[in-house]
Amino acid sequence: MKILNIIGSPRKKGTSARIAQSFVETSQENGASVKSYYLNGINYRGCQGCEACHSKLDKCVLKDDLEEVLDAMREADIIVFSSPVYYGDTTGQFKSFLDRTWSHVEVNYENENPYTSRLPEGKKAVLILSQGDVEEKHLDIVERFQFFMNLYGLELHVIRATGLITGAANADVTAYEEEANMLANQLTQELVS
Ligand SMILES: Cc1cc2nc3c(=O)[nH]c(=O)nc-3n(C[C@H](O)[C@H](O)[C@H](O)COP(=O)(O)O)c2cc1C
Repeated sequence: MKILNIIGSPRKKGTSARIAQSFVETSQENGASVKSYYLNGINYRGCQGCEACHSKLDKCVLKDDLEEVLDAMREADIIVFSSPVYYGDTTGQFKSFLDRTWSHVEVNYENENPYTSRLPEGKKAVLILSQGDVEEKHLDIVERFQFFMNLYGLELHVIRATGLITGAANADVTAYEEEANMLANQLTQELVS
C-alpha cells in the first residue's frame, strides 16, 4: 500500500501539512509506505502548454523535480493533496503542480468524451484544504478539484479545515487530525480487503 503525500503549503508545519501528516502516520501504522513531497522545497516550472504530453510523449516533457512527483502518482494507491486557500484557490505552488498533471490525461477530441486517465485504475485521493474563512466559503475549490479527479478516475475524499486565520501555525487542528485518522483507517482498510 503506497501513499503519496503532496504538501502544497509553504508552511511545513502549518495546519494543512499537519492534518496530512496525521493521515499518513495512521496509514503507516496500518502498513502503508509513504512518500512525501514538500512542493515549496523543490524546483519546477508550471505547465508550458506545449502539449508534448499529448502529441509526442505519454508524460510531461519538462525535466525538473516534479518529474519524480508525477511518476509517484502512477505508483500510489492513495494520493494526499494538501493546501491552504490563498486568494480563493490553492497556493500557487500547488496550482503549478496541478497544471502539470495534465500529462496524466489522454486527450482525443474526436471522442464524445475526449478525456481518459493515464493513471492506473482504483486509486483514491484525499484533498485537505485549510482556510481562514468560514465553512460556507471556497466550496468552489472542491467542485473544481472533483472535476479534475474525475478525469483521472480518482475517488475523492475531502477534509476542509475552516476558520484558521493566517499566522496561526500552532492553531488547534485536533478535530481535523482525528477526521484524517478516521479516513486513513477507512481507506487503508478498503485497500487491503
Ligand atoms: C497570501 C494568503 C492568502 C490567503 N487567502 C485566503 C482566502 O482567500 N480565503 C481564506 O479563507 N483564507 C485565506 N488565507 C488564510 C489561509 O488560508 C489560512 O490561514 C490557512 O489555514 C493556512 O494554512 P496552512 O497553515 O496550512 O499554511 C490566506 C493566507 C495567505 C497567506
